[in-house]
Amino acid sequence: MSETAHTTENEQSAADQPLQVTSGETREKSRDEWTDYEFEGEAKLAAEDLDVYYGDDHALKGVSMEIPENSVTALIGPSGCGKSTFLRCLNRMNDRIGAARVDGSVQLDGREIYQDNVNLVELRKRVGMVFQSPNPFPKSIRDNISYGPRKHGDLETGLLANLLGRSDDDAIDELVERSLRQAALWDEVSDRLDDNALGLSGGQQQRLCIARALATDPEVLLMDEPASALDPIATSKIEDLVHELAKEYTVVIVTHNMQQAARISDQTAVFLTGGELVEYGDTDQVFEDPQSQRVEDYISGKFG
Ligand SMILES: Nc1ncnc2c1ncn2[C@@H]1O[C@H](COP(=O)(O)OP(=O)(O)OP(=O)(O)O)[C@@H](O)[C@H]1O
Ligand SMILES: [Mg+2]
Repeated sequence: MSETAHTTENEQSAADQPLQVTSGETREKSRDEWTDYEFEGEAKLAAEDLDVYYGDDHALKGVSMEIPENSVTALIGPSGCGKSTFLRCLNRMNDRIGAARVDGSVQLDGREIYQDNVNLVELRKRVGMVFQSPNPFPKSIRDNISYGPRKHGDLETGLLANLLGRSDDDAIDELVERSLRQAALWDEVSDRLDDNALGLSGGQQQRLCIARALATDPEVLLMDEPASALDPIATSKIEDLVHELAKEYTVVIVTHNMQQAARISDQTAVFLTGGELVEYGDTDQVFEDPQSQRVEDYISGKFG
């Protein structure tokens, strides 16, 4: 008898508290108004009701979020909460993961990217990405930078049209220098552009990947913890770069470093365990006056 009562009580409490939580985290439920971020100007990207599954694992749950153009949006939250998964939804990089299934909508400049006639090469040129671990091609530093623009034909038309009339080599040299300077790497590699990129240090490889992403002149730059392998000086260069980029580009950056998120972003989205977007708003508001207790606990270091 007492055993039955015990089971019933457990079932009851499980039904009342369906949220998956990490130890130390409260069981507070998210509210729509905590993620309903209103801003002036246009949304560059708009995700609506995004769910991502890896097989049976429901990694991202009903995420809706509009990302304003020409600004920096930080994504923060504990490991495994779906930040990289969400980022990869924004240029359909999850399509490359066999087990991943994406439901919902993402619009870029008001046009749905999850439809059949979308050119994924073109999409990823417009929405470039820098990954968590640097992944340079096993080619020279110069070729790493020029590969994308060559593939897209930008060396002949479009992006470098103002360089027409010069030889291809001059155009490439200028593009390589500009991109490496933007990524704060030029001074360290200008005399070894023909060396293999795999000979660079980890932090240099990461900056090379940033330069490579910038070389195709994207409109949106997705950055997944781009500074996690960098020393404080290179990190601060990347932060300055992100700040500069936001004048012309829309930057979405994942970081585990909350001071970094607070320093460089205009708005912050907090994901928590279970793949939920719990809070989204102006960075100052999210850090100084979070609406959600779970977010306050996370930011103040009580868990995660
Ligand atoms: N390729 C994959 N196959 C199967 N499961 C995956 C895959 N990628 C991510 N997951 C799962 O999806 C969930 C979210 O992972 P994701 O990498 O998006 O988290 P994250 O917030 O970026 O974490 P971190 O801060 O550690 O990078 C995790 O449970 C993870 O195990
Ligand atoms: Mg990640």
